[in-house]
Order: sequence, then C-alpha cells, then structure tokens
Amino acid sequence: MPSLIRSILFRLLLIPYFFIANLVCFLLSLPKILRFNKLKASQDDDDNGERDEGSYVVGKEELRQTGLQRELMPRHVAVIMDGNRRWAERAGLMTSQGHKAGAKRLKQFAELCFGLGIHTVSAFAFSTENWGRNKIEVKCIMSLIQYQLKSKLKDLHREEIRVSVIGNLAKIPESLHRTIQEMEEATKIYKNRHLILAIDYSGRFDMLHACKSIVKKAENGLVREEDVDEALIERELLTNCTEFPNPDLLIRTSGEERISNFFLWQLAYTELFFTPVLWPDFDKDNLLEALVSYQRRERRFGCRV
Ligand SMILES: *[C@@H]1O[C@H](CO)[C@@H](O)[C@H](O)[C@H]1NC(C)=O
Repeated sequence: MPSLIRSILFRLLLIPYFFIANLVCFLLSLPKILRFNKLKASQDDDDNGERDEGSYVVGKEELRQTGLQRELMPRHVAVIMDGNRRWAERAGLMTSQGHKAGAKRLKQFAELCFGLGIHTVSAFAFSTENWGRNKIEVKCIMSLIQYQLKSKLKDLHREEIRVSVIGNLAKIPESLHRTIQEMEEATKIYKNRHLILAIDYSGRFDMLHACKSIVKKAENGLVREEDVDEALIERELLTNCTEFPNPDLLIRTSGEERISNFFLWQLAYTELFFTPVLWPDFDKDNLLEALVSYQRRERRFGCRV
C-alpha cells in the first residue's frame, strides 16, 4: 500500500526534524541556563560586607523629624514588591539580579518595620499568575526564596522573627516545601514579629479554600448556617496564622495601582499607598514617606463620622 509507505516515510523524515528543533531550543536557552548558574554562584557571596547598618534602623532623631508617632504605627503592613525586572533592565543587569536585589530589599524593609514596632509584615513574593513566566525565571525565583529562607535562619532567631508562608503550596518544589516547614516550626515560638511570605498566593484561591472548608464542616454537622459570620470566615483564611490578619497599610511599588489578586477579603479597610519607585530602590525614606501618609489619613473603617 503506497499510502502507508508514504506515511511511514513521512514520519521517519520527522525524526531528524524533531531532533534538530530540540537542539535549536536547547542552544537558544543556553545563555539563560548559564546566567542562572552564575546567579547561584553569586548567591554564595553574601551581603554581610555591603550591609550599611544605618539603613536598617530608624534612629530616634530621625523618627522625630518625620513626625511619626509610634503609637499610631500600623500593626500589619503588606507589600506588593513590583519592579524587580524593570529595575534590572534599567541597570543593564539580568532579571535574576533584579530578584536578588528585591530579596535584599525585603529583608531591609522587614527589619525597618519591626524596628518601628510593626507586628506583621506580609509580602507578595510570588503570585499564582507568575507561573506563566518563563520556566527558568520561575526556577530562579524558587531557588532564591529557598536560599534566602535557609541562609537567614540565624538572623530570624537573633531578631526573634516568626516566619509563615501562605499560598497554594501544591506546586512548589518538594525541597522548598521542606525548608518552609522547618522554618515555620523553628520560628513559631516568636510572638512579636511576624513575617508572612505569600508564595503562589491568590486572594480568590484563599476565599475558595475557606468556602470549601466551611462547607465540609457544615456537611459534618460542625457548622450551622447561623454560625457563618465574618469571624468564622476569617478563621478559615490563610491569614489565620497572624493575630492581625487585616493589613492596615498596603504598599505597592513600581507604579502599578491594582490589587492583582493579593489579599481580597483582608484589604477591605486597608489604606493603599502606591509609588512609582521600583521595589529594589524602595529605601528607608520611601518607607517613612508611606508611613507618614498612612498616619495622616483618618481611618474610618467604613463609618461616616
Ligand atoms: C487556618 O486556615 C487554614 C486554611 O483554610 C486551615 O487549614 C487551618 O485549619 C486554619 N487554622 C485554624 C487554627 O483554624
């Protein structure tokens, strides 16, 4: 049957084609793979040497000059850390270096906040939508998160910071999962400073998850309709790990003025602060500016006065 032979021949011809296509793909991604390895190597030279102590604390005099009042500090500050990629592009650096600079900035940001008496800092580190990014970048972000968590354990103990990671953790690498569990376990004794990292988090996922859990409890006769109130829902949300689940202030950098599926329920009465500054550039002065803006606002929680 000539048509069968033709079809077989045709398939055979495809084999070298696939082989060549794969080879070309591999060669094209080679620079990225090499860059990724370079990043891993550069992670080993830690930032201790570059650390400028003054930028990690707000002095008494400095605080007085801003007019900030300690008793009016937010208890929970959330941040959407945007602009790492753009920052790297502008500086002529690799995307991975932008994320690395962003991670360093988060450490400084959290230390500053805790020093000012803020109890909870939550950071949108990796959104569910980020899975759509290039695989190597995702891998790089995951490895950066793992590296940061592991290498900062000593600091967390010294500063008595509790760490929680929230999100749909089903898709993250197994080894990162283990690191997260170890960190959470090791730091859960600390009560006054809480760092929450949202990884593969989405506000809608959080609410769906809470609904499912409540329905399940109802099916088992543990919850009746009249028991369902805001407090019950709040207890089922992933932010139930902190005493202050609803942020007082949300900061989003890099000029985006959206919530982008970060906390949805929790942001109902949150003050929003948007700034064009790219996240790796968001320094102490920028934070103080956000806090001053927060303290100037009159918070009404939906009530007219
Ligand atoms: C907190 O919320 C998660 C997610 O819904 C749930 O699995 C967990 O049981 C809750 N924890 C408490 C103490 O209610």
